[in-house]
Amino acid sequence: SGYLAASAGVAAQTTAQVQPGNTLTILYGSQTGNSRGIASQLAQQARANGYAVNLSAMGEYNVRSLKQEQLLVVIVSTQGEGDAPDDAIELHKFLASKRAPKLEQLHYAVLALGDSSYEFFCQTGKDFDERLAALGAKPLLPRVDCDVDYQQLSEQWQQQLLVAVQPHLQTSAQVVSIDSVKPANTASGYSKQQPYEADILLSQKITGRDSTKDTRHIEIDLGESGIQYQPGDALGVYFSNYAALVDELLSSLQLDGDSAVMLQDRALSLRQALLDEKELTQLYPGLVQFWAQHCGSDELQAIADDREQSRLFIRHHQLADLQRLYPITNVDAQQLIDVLRPITPRLYSIASSQSEVDTEVHLTVGLVQEVRDGIPRYGAASGFLARAEEGQKLRVYVEANKHFRLPTDPATPVIMIGPGTGVAPFRAFMQQRAAQGASGDSWLFFGNPHFEQDFLYQTEWQQYLKTGQLSRISLAFSRDQQQKIYVQQRIREQGEALWQWLQRGAHLYLCGDAERMAKDVQQALVDVVVAYGGLDAEAATEYLENLRQQGRFQKDVY
Ligand code: 2AM
Repeated sequence: SGYLAASAGVAAQTTAQVQPGNTLTILYGSQTGNSRGIASQLAQQARANGYAVNLSAMGEYNVRSLKQEQLLVVIVSTQGEGDAPDDAIELHKFLASKRAPKLEQLHYAVLALGDSSYEFFCQTGKDFDERLAALGAKPLLPRVDCDVDYQQLSEQWQQQLLVAVQPHLQTSAQVVSIDSVKPANTASGYSKQQPYEADILLSQKITGRDSTKDTRHIEIDLGESGIQYQPGDALGVYFSNYAALVDELLSSLQLDGDSAVMLQDRALSLRQALLDEKELTQLYPGLVQFWAQHCGSDELQAIADDREQSRLFIRHHQLADLQRLYPITNVDAQQLIDVLRPITPRLYSIASSQSEVDTEVHLTVGLVQEVRDGIPRYGAASGFLARAEEGQKLRVYVEANKHFRLPTDPATPVIMIGPGTGVAPFRAFMQQRAAQGASGDSWLFFGNPHFEQDFLYQTEWQQYLKTGQLSRISLAFSRDQQQKIYVQQRIREQGEALWQWLQRGAHLYLCGDAERMAKDVQQALVDVVVAYGGLDAEAATEYLENLRQQGRFQKDVY
């Protein structure tokens, strides 16, 4: 089963001679890498303190070891509507099942990561906390729920945890400062905390003039940084806000961009803070509440006080919309800065392989744009990248994603499903396989509105088809005919072949929109397994879950 395969993975990471009772076990469940980042930072510091540490992804942890654990740390994020990240699903289920053992021997701590603009904020972390307590485990310290700007709170929690575990663990070393063990996720030393200042080489629109979409191909130079990445990894991108948007806000709030504000211990102008430091395009519940209180609108107050309405409002508006609908002029510069959240970098799936592009990194970026009340609004990072010019600087770092990897054996067939900008990592995959001279078959499913306007990287796929590096391509141009055609229709139509590929050991990859596409494609895959594998729906779901556990079905959905 998945458990047995998984435990071998853990053994490789664990120090074999350490008895479980003397070990601090740190489990993380991550979709974007934030939990993993915190977990490895904590592990480094605990090791520096002389503790034996077992650090593991939840997906690779053997749930049977739980009974022997004495000290357990859980760091877990929550997906969209309160779901556990892929990696955490199995352990999450296990703890809620009848198979879960009594854990009276155990001391534990939970750090929950989430996004308070969603209703079920930090739900997965809350679940873990509740289940562990219900099974008899004792908390080392209270659970902490972190919002998107988790840095400070999580570091405080780590410090408190290291103090709380002291009585339970043997150590000789002294507690070291957390700053000395900030992890770097690439050998180069650049990280989210210390991004590399790269040059933009190219920003080119690759959808047609008449397209409904504006999709950009961006090429970035990593220069002498020494940054390495693998196909499947993401690039973290910092950005500046749109100057026109900052001006609009300043004028509507009747604030002077030159007024000085304090950010941590640093003085800077309000304009600069709004341009480079603060999120302007993503609202959060506390901000809507703040606006309601300052503008005195009953309507906005009602929205702010209702979770569901507030969630919907946040999804469809940004700060400038909020200010247009419910204008306020009674906040000062510092109050505004204090209530806004710091900018968080955005992650983009990398669309290139270093075996092809060397020190460059390529992205496929869909410009997020919407017209509200006749005013165009843009996504913060995609807008910045779309406006970017050659030679402009860009702060970046690599976010490794070991859950989205080509098979180690280049002879293994791959099936890649990537409509829209979801195709990005598959360009990286194909570059890599071509450079390897990989003999394995490959099959790409791609969809977008119109063949003429939106066939991203068309000539490249055609070239790969010609050389035989790409064996098969299935296209779904949704709006070229009366009836919508999506990739899942192609999957069903070619279900028999797809099933045969899976029988031959193919790895299956899915990248792109999480909200609708991924669920519909998942359903189509279940249908294919039912139709050609002779299983019922439940067994077919299990089959795909098994593929996932074996690392043969990998998803990168957003
Ligand atoms: P549409 O915009 O014409 O509806 C990439 O965005 C492609 O994915 C587009 O062709 C888009 O079609 C399509 N798409 C939209 N919803 C989808 C879904 N639920 N499943 C699969 N593809 C979808």
